[in-house]
Amino acid sequence: MRGVFITLEGADGCGKTTQATLVAAALEARGREVVRLREPGGTPISEKVRALLLDPANAEMVPECELLLYEASRAQLVRQVIEPALERGACVLCDRYYDSTFAYQAGGRGLDETLVRQSNVLGSCGRVPDRTLVLDLDPALGFARATAGGVDRMEAEGLAFQERVRNAYLRLASEEPSRVRLVDASGKKEEVTARVLAALDDLWGE
Ligand code: TYD
Repeated sequence: MRGVFITLEGADGCGKTTQATLVAAALEARGREVVRLREPGGTPISEKVRALLLDPANAEMVPECELLLYEASRAQLVRQVIEPALERGACVLCDRYYDSTFAYQAGGRGLDETLVRQSNVLGSCGRVPDRTLVLDLDPALGFARATAGGVDRMEAEGLAFQERVRNAYLRLASEEPSRVRLVDASGKKEEVTARVLAALDDLWGE
């Protein structure tokens, strides 16, 4: 079986993590080995970088440092975990990947888009997902959900930041329609899972 690389994206509180669990179970039921990951994180080094990135005490972090830390965490994950998993034919399901960097660091923070895209090539070691699903939800709803239990350093940027993130995702979906698919993330979680699975259907052509 060919390895398949799927990434889940969306603004904070869109329900990605819940969907990743449900989708992983559905793929396992079809007999696939599923490797579930989240970014930033997924290796001992990447988890240390994650802690730096999300710690609200690091409020002085400059956008360029933030960008490079996300990319550093990603490069380690790609080489250490994602590539070996794909080579043995697993289905890799990653909660966030380089489209998050485009949405948050270019869209949200306003870093130069060309620079962010170039950094993404380096951080991903050129590894492009087979399919990227953007769970699309009203940012006000997602933000309220995400911040109910307190805010991390990124969430501390507020609702206007999340709106810029969402707009960047909408743009990505229109620029790369065969890879990036928008999925309506409103309604019951089972309904969203059905939409997610439908948006993956054409990947299982074996
Ligand atoms: P996390 O708690 O994992 O958020 P979520 O459950 O919404 O995925 O925190 C990851 C945060 O890092 C989230 O606010 C998005 C942000 N992020 C970036 O800004 N750039 C990136 O490249 C990635 C991968 C994440």
